[in-house]
Amino acid sequence: MKSTIEQVESLDLSLFEKIGSETSTEDRRSLLAVQRATTRRHKRYVYLEIGSHLGGSIQPHLVDPRCSRIYSIDPRPSQQLDDRRELRVCNYENNSTERMIELLRVIAPNEVSKIQCFDNDASELDPSQLMDRPQIALIDGEHTQKAALSDFRFCNKVINNDGTIVFHDFGIIFPAIRKICNALDEKNLKYIPLKLEGSVFAIFFDAETVRSDPYLMSLYILHKNLLLYYPLIHRLKSILPISVWLKLKYYYNLWIRSRMKNNNQSL
Ligand SMILES: C[S@@+](CC[C@H](N)C(=O)[O-])C[C@H]1O[C@@H](n2cnc3c(N)ncnc32)[C@H](O)[C@@H]1O
Repeated sequence: MKSTIEQVESLDLSLFEKIGSETSTEDRRSLLAVQRATTRRHKRYVYLEIGSHLGGSIQPHLVDPRCSRIYSIDPRPSQQLDDRRELRVCNYENNSTERMIELLRVIAPNEVSKIQCFDNDASELDPSQLMDRPQIALIDGEHTQKAALSDFRFCNKVINNDGTIVFHDFGIIFPAIRKICNALDEKNLKYIPLKLEGSVFAIFFDAETVRSDPYLMSLYILHKNLLLYYPLIHRLKSILPISVWLKLKYYYNLWIRSRMKNNNQSL
């Protein structure tokens, strides 16, 4: 049986299988790749998550012995605004921190003590409430431009200098991500913006984290200018019938995988 470290090294998606998560296969591979690259650069790391629901995206970090602390920020509303739904509302029934902790306890009873939860919006927290600076922060709370910008502001205050801020649902919040990148450029800050597989986007403040991982490097080569042409893709999505769009997406994913395999990258 493989150890958790070996599972992370081989981007083993079964690390996500015990608790449901609103993430696709591609999203999970991307999230694991960030975890793998981070552990190649740091012996130990701290994980911050904004928007945790059942703990699905926390589970690979809970079982990773190199993850020393997990911060989960989630005010647990039963309904939240969402830029993708027609009525702009998304329901989360029985959404509670207690329920998440119980689900995570089943996976690793001795590890749940490393989780610290805040039932607040990140903007209500004082950054000093996080004793350790995270190396990875995942933003997956309210899926609106306003919330993504506000959550990024918080993460940017607390993230380690060489950390990575990851966004889920890139397709919905990409205008906010473009604003964030423009603001970082104006300040002449060094970072690598990278669209990963699925709907994951990451801002790496340490270029070596990307370079240390051939999988991330090959995505970087394929997606280097994606932020520039993404509005066109988004426009295409809004005018094409959904069945055509899904087919195009399917073939694009196949193409990406084959390009990466041809590059002889370790997946
Ligand atoms: C898509 S779910 C998160 C899924 C989780 N990351 C996973 O993959 O398993 C969104 C979560 O965001 C939370 N949420 C809603 N408003 C929020 C806010 N203002 N700040 C942080 N989280 C919020 C909801 O309570 C819900 O648990």
